[in-house]
Amino acid sequence: MIAPSLLSANFANLEKDLQMLNSSKADWIHLDIMDGVFVPNISFGLPIVSAVKKLTNKPLDVHLMIVKPENYFEAFALAGADYISFHIEASTHVHRSIQLLKKLGVKAGIVLNPHTSVALLEDSIKDLDFVLLMSVNPGFGGQQFIEQTYSKIEKLKQLIKQSGSKALIQVDGGVNAKNAKELYQTGADVLVAGNAVFSATNPVEAIAQIRNAKNA
Ligand code: DX5
Ligand code: ZN
Repeated sequence: MIAPSLLSANFANLEKDLQMLNSSKADWIHLDIMDGVFVPNISFGLPIVSAVKKLTNKPLDVHLMIVKPENYFEAFALAGADYISFHIEASTHVHRSIQLLKKLGVKAGIVLNPHTSVALLEDSIKDLDFVLLMSVNPGFGGQQFIEQTYSKIEKLKQLIKQSGSKALIQVDGGVNAKNAKELYQTGADVLVAGNAVFSATNPVEAIAQIRNAKNA
Protein backbone atom coordinates (compact mmCIF):
# COMPACT_ATOMS: atom_id res chain seq x y z
CA MET A 1 0.00 0.00 0.00
CA ILE A 2 0.98 3.63 -0.37
CA ALA A 3 0.12 6.61 1.82
CA PRO A 4 1.12 9.89 0.15
CA SER A 5 2.13 12.53 2.72
CA LEU A 6 0.38 15.88 2.42
CA LEU A 7 3.41 17.61 3.96
CA SER A 8 4.74 18.18 0.44
CA ALA A 9 1.38 19.28 -1.03
CA ASN A 10 0.46 22.81 -2.09
CA PHE A 11 -1.23 24.29 0.98
CA ALA A 12 -2.56 27.21 -1.07
CA ASN A 13 -4.66 24.74 -3.04
CA LEU A 14 -5.18 21.58 -1.03
CA GLU A 15 -8.43 20.84 -2.84
CA LYS A 16 -6.58 20.38 -6.12
CA ASP A 17 -4.04 18.01 -4.56
CA LEU A 18 -6.83 16.04 -2.89
CA GLN A 19 -8.64 15.68 -6.21
CA MET A 20 -5.40 14.30 -7.60
CA LEU A 21 -5.10 11.86 -4.66
CA ASN A 22 -8.76 10.83 -5.03
CA SER A 23 -8.14 9.95 -8.65
CA SER A 24 -4.97 8.01 -7.76
CA LYS A 25 -4.25 4.56 -6.31
CA ALA A 26 -3.37 6.07 -2.92
CA ASP A 27 -4.56 3.73 -0.15
CA TRP A 28 -4.36 6.11 2.82
CA ILE A 29 -3.62 9.83 3.09
CA HIS A 30 -0.79 10.56 5.53
CA LEU A 31 -1.03 13.74 7.62
CA ASP A 32 2.06 14.91 9.54
CA ILE A 33 1.25 16.84 12.72
CA MET A 34 4.30 18.67 14.14
CA ASP A 35 4.34 20.85 17.24
CA GLY A 36 7.76 22.51 17.11
CA VAL A 37 8.65 20.81 20.43
CA PHE A 38 8.89 17.08 19.73
CA VAL A 39 10.31 17.90 16.29
CA PRO A 40 12.07 21.10 15.16
CA ASN A 41 9.27 22.11 12.80
CA ILE A 42 5.60 23.15 12.91
CA SER A 43 3.24 21.83 10.24
CA PHE A 44 -0.54 21.97 10.65
CA GLY A 45 -3.25 20.81 13.02
CA LEU A 46 -6.91 20.00 13.52
CA PRO A 47 -8.57 22.46 11.08
CA ILE A 48 -6.58 21.04 8.17
CA VAL A 49 -7.46 17.45 9.12
CA SER A 50 -11.18 18.35 9.28
CA ALA A 51 -10.95 20.17 5.94
CA VAL A 52 -9.18 17.23 4.29
CA LYS A 53 -11.81 14.82 5.64
CA LYS A 54 -14.49 16.76 3.72
CA LEU A 55 -12.54 16.43 0.48
CA THR A 56 -11.79 12.70 0.40
CA ASN A 57 -13.19 9.26 1.21
CA LYS A 58 -9.71 7.74 1.54
CA PRO A 59 -8.69 6.74 5.09
CA LEU A 60 -6.82 9.48 6.97
CA ASP A 61 -3.56 8.37 8.59
CA VAL A 62 -2.54 10.91 11.24
CA HIS A 63 1.12 10.80 12.33
CA LEU A 64 1.49 12.74 15.59
CA MET A 65 4.94 14.26 16.08
CA ILE A 66 3.91 16.06 19.24
CA VAL A 67 4.52 15.87 22.99
CA LYS A 68 1.71 14.47 25.15
CA PRO A 69 0.03 12.93 22.07
CA GLU A 70 -2.66 11.24 24.19
CA ASN A 71 -4.15 14.65 25.04
CA TYR A 72 -5.10 15.10 21.37
CA PHE A 73 -6.28 11.61 20.34
CA GLU A 74 -9.95 12.41 20.80
CA ALA A 75 -9.76 15.70 18.90
CA PHE A 76 -8.00 14.08 15.92
CA ALA A 77 -10.46 11.17 15.95
CA LEU A 78 -13.34 13.66 15.86
CA ALA A 79 -11.61 15.57 13.06
CA GLY A 80 -11.75 12.42 10.96
CA ALA A 81 -8.61 10.36 11.62
CA ASP A 82 -9.01 6.66 10.79
CA TYR A 83 -5.46 5.72 11.78
CA ILE A 84 -3.50 7.52 14.52
CA SER A 85 0.14 6.88 15.34
CA PHE A 86 2.15 8.42 18.16
CA HIS A 87 5.88 8.33 18.95
CA ILE A 88 6.99 5.94 21.68
CA GLU A 89 9.65 8.55 22.55
CA ALA A 90 6.87 11.03 23.40
CA SER A 91 4.75 8.68 25.50
CA THR A 92 5.08 7.60 29.13
CA HIS A 93 2.01 5.35 29.37
CA VAL A 94 2.06 3.51 26.08
CA HIS A 95 -0.42 0.78 27.07
CA ARG A 96 -2.97 3.34 28.25
CA SER A 97 -2.51 5.34 25.04
CA ILE A 98 -3.13 2.31 22.82
CA GLN A 99 -6.28 1.42 24.78
CA LEU A 100 -7.51 5.00 24.44
CA LEU A 101 -7.11 4.90 20.66
CA LYS A 102 -9.04 1.62 20.52
CA LYS A 103 -11.82 3.09 22.66
CA LEU A 104 -12.08 5.98 20.22
CA GLY A 105 -12.55 3.49 17.38
CA VAL A 106 -9.40 4.39 15.44
CA LYS A 107 -6.59 2.08 14.34
CA ALA A 108 -3.66 2.36 16.75
CA GLY A 109 -0.03 2.73 15.69
CA ILE A 110 3.30 3.38 17.41
CA VAL A 111 6.12 5.25 15.69
CA LEU A 112 9.80 4.54 16.28
CA ASN A 113 12.50 7.11 15.51
CA PRO A 114 15.55 5.81 13.63
CA HIS A 115 17.52 5.30 16.87
CA THR A 116 14.71 3.58 18.78
CA SER A 117 14.92 -0.20 19.11
CA VAL A 118 12.19 -2.49 17.79
CA ALA A 119 12.68 -4.53 21.00
CA LEU A 120 10.76 -1.84 22.92
CA LEU A 121 7.58 -3.08 21.22
CA GLU A 122 7.79 -6.57 22.67
CA ASP A 123 4.99 -5.97 25.18
CA SER A 124 2.70 -3.91 22.97
CA ILE A 125 2.96 -5.48 19.54
CA LYS A 126 -0.14 -7.67 19.98
CA ASP A 127 -2.32 -4.63 20.71
CA LEU A 128 -1.15 -2.61 17.71
CA ASP A 129 -2.80 -2.27 14.31
CA PHE A 130 0.38 -0.88 12.78
CA VAL A 131 3.95 0.17 13.52
CA LEU A 132 5.53 3.12 11.76
CA LEU A 133 9.30 2.94 11.33
CA MET A 134 10.86 6.34 10.67
CA SER A 135 13.44 6.04 7.91
CA VAL A 136 14.53 9.69 8.40
CA ASN A 137 14.68 11.82 11.53
CA PRO A 138 11.18 13.26 11.75
CA GLY A 139 10.48 16.93 11.10
CA PHE A 140 10.95 17.55 7.41
CA GLY A 141 10.07 16.15 4.00
CA GLY A 142 12.61 15.48 1.29
CA GLN A 143 15.35 13.93 3.47
CA GLN A 144 17.59 11.02 2.59
CA PHE A 145 16.49 7.48 3.43
CA ILE A 146 18.44 5.80 6.27
CA GLU A 147 19.62 2.38 5.03
CA GLN A 148 19.56 0.80 8.51
CA THR A 149 15.77 0.75 8.19
CA TYR A 150 15.90 -2.52 6.25
CA SER A 151 17.29 -4.44 9.24
CA LYS A 152 14.69 -2.82 11.50
CA ILE A 153 11.93 -4.05 9.18
CA GLU A 154 13.37 -7.57 9.42
CA LYS A 155 13.48 -7.42 13.22
CA LEU A 156 9.94 -6.05 13.39
CA LYS A 157 8.64 -8.70 11.01
CA GLN A 158 10.19 -11.36 13.22
CA LEU A 159 8.58 -9.86 16.34
CA ILE A 160 5.19 -9.69 14.64
CA LYS A 161 5.46 -13.33 13.55
CA GLN A 162 6.59 -14.59 16.97
CA SER A 163 3.81 -12.76 18.81
CA GLY A 164 1.01 -13.61 16.40
CA SER A 165 0.30 -9.88 16.00
CA LYS A 166 -1.55 -8.63 12.94
CA ALA A 167 0.24 -5.27 12.92
CA LEU A 168 1.11 -3.73 9.56
CA ILE A 169 4.59 -2.33 8.98
CA GLN A 170 4.67 1.26 7.71
CA VAL A 171 7.84 3.06 6.61
CA ASP A 172 8.12 6.86 6.46
CA GLY A 173 10.85 9.10 5.07
CA GLY A 174 12.91 9.17 1.90
CA VAL A 175 10.76 6.57 0.17
CA ASN A 176 10.81 6.67 -3.64
CA ALA A 177 10.25 4.50 -6.70
CA LYS A 178 13.86 3.24 -6.42
CA ASN A 179 13.81 1.86 -2.87
CA ALA A 180 10.11 0.87 -2.76
CA LYS A 181 10.64 -2.61 -4.21
CA GLU A 182 13.27 -3.59 -1.65
CA LEU A 183 11.17 -2.12 1.16
CA TYR A 184 8.14 -4.21 0.17
CA GLN A 185 10.33 -7.28 -0.30
CA THR A 186 11.87 -6.83 3.14
CA GLY A 187 8.40 -6.74 4.70
CA ALA A 188 6.93 -3.23 4.58
CA ASP A 189 3.15 -3.17 4.09
CA VAL A 190 2.55 0.58 3.77
CA LEU A 191 4.97 3.12 2.34
CA VAL A 192 4.63 6.84 3.07
CA ALA A 193 5.92 9.15 0.34
CA GLY A 194 5.83 12.93 0.26
CA ASN A 195 8.50 14.45 -1.90
CA ALA A 196 8.61 11.52 -4.35
CA VAL A 197 4.91 12.03 -5.08
CA PHE A 198 4.44 15.79 -5.03
CA SER A 199 7.65 16.75 -6.82
CA ALA A 200 6.91 14.31 -9.65
CA THR A 201 5.74 15.67 -13.00
CA ASN A 202 2.92 13.15 -12.87
CA PRO A 203 2.01 12.51 -9.21
CA VAL A 204 -0.75 9.97 -10.05
CA GLU A 205 1.79 7.97 -12.02
CA ALA A 206 4.40 8.29 -9.23
CA ILE A 207 1.87 6.90 -6.73
CA ALA A 208 1.10 3.92 -9.00
CA GLN A 209 4.80 3.32 -9.59
CA ILE A 210 5.65 3.15 -5.87
CA ARG A 211 2.54 1.09 -5.10
CA ASN A 212 3.31 -1.46 -7.79
CA ALA A 213 7.07 -1.52 -7.20
CA LYS A 214 6.87 -5.04 -5.73
CA ASN A 215 5.86 -6.44 -9.09
CA ALA A 216 8.15 -4.20 -11.13
C1 DX5 B 1 8.78 13.44 8.16
C2 DX5 B 1 7.36 13.01 7.94
C3 DX5 B 1 7.13 12.34 6.65
C4 DX5 B 1 7.42 13.17 5.43
C5 DX5 B 1 7.99 12.23 4.42
O1 DX5 B 1 8.91 13.89 9.46
O2 DX5 B 1 6.93 12.12 8.95
O3 DX5 B 1 5.81 11.80 6.56
O4 DX5 B 1 6.32 13.82 4.89
O5 DX5 B 1 8.45 12.98 3.38
P1 DX5 B 1 9.41 12.41 2.26
O6 DX5 B 1 8.70 11.29 1.59
O7 DX5 B 1 9.59 13.60 1.40
O8 DX5 B 1 10.68 11.96 2.94
ZN1 ZN C 1 4.94 11.07 8.60
